[in-house]
Amino acid sequence: MTETPIRLERGGYVARGASLADVPAIAAVVQAAFDRWPAVEIDCSAVEHVEWKMTSPGTPAGHHTVVTADDQVVCLKLRWVGRARIDGAEYVTDTGADFAADLAYRGRGLGRLLTDFEEGGARSRGDLAMDLPPSNDVVREHLHAEDIRSQWLTVWTRPLGLRSTLATLRRQPLALAGAVSRSAGARFRPRGGPRDVEVRSIDHFDAGADRLWQAARDSVDFARIRDAAYLNWRYADPRSGRREILGAFVDDELLGWTVLRLTNTSAQLIDVLLAPRRLDVGAALLASTIDRARELQAHSLDAWLAPGSQYEPVLRRAGFAAGSDPIRYEFFAPRGGSTTAELIDRLGDPNLSTHVTMGDFDFN
Ligand SMILES: CC(C)(COP(=O)(O)OP(=O)(O)OC[C@H]1O[C@@H](n2cnc3c(N)ncnc32)[C@H](O)[C@@H]1OP(=O)(O)O)[C@@H](O)C(=O)NCCC(=O)NCCS
Repeated sequence: MTETPIRLERGGYVARGASLADVPAIAAVVQAAFDRWPAVEIDCSAVEHVEWKMTSPGTPAGHHTVVTADDQVVCLKLRWVGRARIDGAEYVTDTGADFAADLAYRGRGLGRLLTDFEEGGARSRGDLAMDLPPSNDVVREHLHAEDIRSQWLTVWTRPLGLRSTLATLRRQPLALAGAVSRSAGARFRPRGGPRDVEVRSIDHFDAGADRLWQAARDSVDFARIRDAAYLNWRYADPRSGRREILGAFVDDELLGWTVLRLTNTSAQLIDVLLAPRRLDVGAALLASTIDRARELQAHSLDAWLAPGSQYEPVLRRAGFAAGSDPIRYEFFAPRGGSTTAELIDRLGDPNLSTHVTMGDFDFN
């Protein structure tokens, strides 16, 4: 990723696309601006995390923006960029934005300078943004309300306490499995699925993950592109946060994977992908994922899925229950982007089938 030559100067300040040379200064500004940054737990430095965040596959040059004063970064917008597929066409999405100014430079209109730079079209163009609704009213005011479209996610929970374990065992003996090991390549004893499935920990995604994505991608209208390049950046790079990835294989072909997000106190099932013609491998995969979460002392396992997702029966069979409070998320046009009204309307279509999970949002 290189710096774009395009810039906007005003009152001695310069707005421009960010480059990797800006990473240490960006890390210093965001850390000073937010009480806790990043929100996700990381085992690396903030500088390494910023570098990771700025280098998702397919990020156009200059997509992240900064304002400099005397060549020092004093204000910035850092995004989380991914590619998505809608009705077979590919788009660049923005998720979340760390918008921050150095305390000494606030109230000088630098936020406005960045916004003008982006709206002026100088910034590389993202096609659409996707996020949970902002809790901050100022942020809400700056979205173009007429361009916002909502979709929904169901929260699924799998309790892991002893009582629920016994209840699940009575209902569904095959959903429970034995102890597992944490190292990559560790094998799980497959239960609750066909006998030919092997579940093991993986530490990266390879060509098998690309084949799985190609087989799965047409089963929904909208999904972030879950190819190996994206998945390795998102989940297998330790700078992204603490994760564990489990793969389900039949004859060494990857037919499904899950990603657990680990914190000091909990685990969440933040992503899952299954081969559409082999949803049956999901039983063994989820049983092993549940075992792993239980071994990590998690009390429950949450997952987000679109209502009506083809994975619902798989989750139910594994002992997950659907919550009654759905989560709303939004699509909207990024500033300076090229989103068409047709695209935004399509994303708000209640019949749009989606594969959206917790891992599609930047704080997980
Ligand atoms: C957000 C921040 C960069 C704005 O800079 P600032 O110097 O305070 O404000 P500016 O004088 O540059 O304001 C310029 C514009 O930014 C807007 N702005 C202020 N806060 C904003 C926010 N949270 N989101 C979007 N726009 C915001 C202002 O309303 C103003 O827009 P307008 O000209 O259309 O009215 C700065 O206040 C900051 O670093 N805050 C702490 C971090 C934070 O809360 N970030 C926002 C959530 S990610």
